[in-house]
Amino acid sequence: MENFVFQNPTKIIFGKDTEKQVGQETKAWADRVLLHYGGGSIKITGLYDRVVASLKAAGVDFVELSGVQPNPRLSLIQEGIELCRKHQIGFILAVGGGSVIDSAKAIAVGVPYAGDVWDFFEGKAEIKTALPVGVVLTIPAAGSESSPASVVTKEEGDLKRDIGTDLIRPKFAILNPELTFTLPPYQTACGVADIVAHILERYFTRTPDTDLSDRLCEATLRTVIKNAPIVMQNPTDYAARAEIMWAGTVAHNDLLGKGKVEDWGSHMIEHELSGIYDVPHGAGLAVVFPAWMKYVYQEDVNLFAQFAVRVWDVEMDFAHPERTALAGIERLKAFFRSLGLPVTLEELKVGTDRLEEMAAKCTERGPVGNFVKLDKEDVLAIYHLAK
Ligand code: NZQ
Ligand code: ZN
Repeated sequence: MENFVFQNPTKIIFGKDTEKQVGQETKAWADRVLLHYGGGSIKITGLYDRVVASLKAAGVDFVELSGVQPNPRLSLIQEGIELCRKHQIGFILAVGGGSVIDSAKAIAVGVPYAGDVWDFFEGKAEIKTALPVGVVLTIPAAGSESSPASVVTKEEGDLKRDIGTDLIRPKFAILNPELTFTLPPYQTACGVADIVAHILERYFTRTPDTDLSDRLCEATLRTVIKNAPIVMQNPTDYAARAEIMWAGTVAHNDLLGKGKVEDWGSHMIEHELSGIYDVPHGAGLAVVFPAWMKYVYQEDVNLFAQFAVRVWDVEMDFAHPERTALAGIERLKAFFRSLGLPVTLEELKVGTDRLEEMAAKCTERGPVGNFVKLDKEDVLAIYHLAK
């Protein structure tokens, strides 16, 4: 196990009706806030009205900025930065999923910075301060509600890039599983794939002696695998929605990767797909992750066999452990398929004409991943395996 520091200060407020607390939680941080949300699902579901009522009851003044698209765009973030400066906003309340939260985080670092906020995403400037951010989560998926990351797409050049700093971990995150009842099945499935991927990015490591972390990952995976078909069948099953929502946060709040060198190659490979083709991040991962696994499993057949046995109950083939390892990868693919997700680029409706360009962009700042360090040719080979 590696040395580590674990500190995740996001206050999680979990359960039925918890969005009613948003006014008082927000008031603790500021009197005037930016209310930031997406394409309108919160208005259809009535969540918007409840959030506004709670803010008003707590005496919180707010300015609104809606229209965040999945794979959030830089142009709206720049608009949000100007709006916050104009109205002297002291806090950003994100009501939505990973895209809304990431957009809020990018605005939060952009407001106090004199230059272009994209500088941070290009690694040209260091983030020194940020406005505080709070969250009402409507989809378990990205884990942004307690993560230190923000992932943004710059329209010019189809660039999807991320920043990471503890300064943007949300101050609080309200998680009411009932808010996820209205998710379309495909969005639920994409969220599940992202949660699974966040665990696997931490599970497949070269760090030895990580028993507890392995077991925590396996337990979280098994919980998601058990409950995903239940919510696909019955979207209003509170118990199953609650398990998945909590798993989504646990998968990405840093606990599961502590003491290990994490991988993150598949995420980098996927970001090129959603940056260019605007596919949902989770759908892209359902295609990329199994291909990455096939490409690298021979580096540690035992670990991949362990995944198959402990997560999927595959019987260990002691004479041919690689068969066990490959069976685990096939089970993961079958699971994604059973949720209606694509597992090939063709099923994702992504052509093969820009694979070279994506592989080059993905590795322009050096090799990606840690389990195996992948250069451009490796990434290209993984895209080809995903065809
Ligand atoms: O915009 P609205 O109308 O709200 O609709 C959204 C959107 O179309 C809809 N939706 C959300 N909650 C709903 C709902 N529809 C009905 N009922 C509800 N309760 O779902 C659609 C997708 O929303 P989005 O926020 O894009 O989903 P997700 O949470 O999967 O976020 C994806 C983004 O997060 C980034 C991804 O790259 C992607 O850009 N990630 C962020 C991470 C982080 N900050 O730590 C880590 C992740 O690995 C990921 O990269
Ligand atoms: Zn992800």
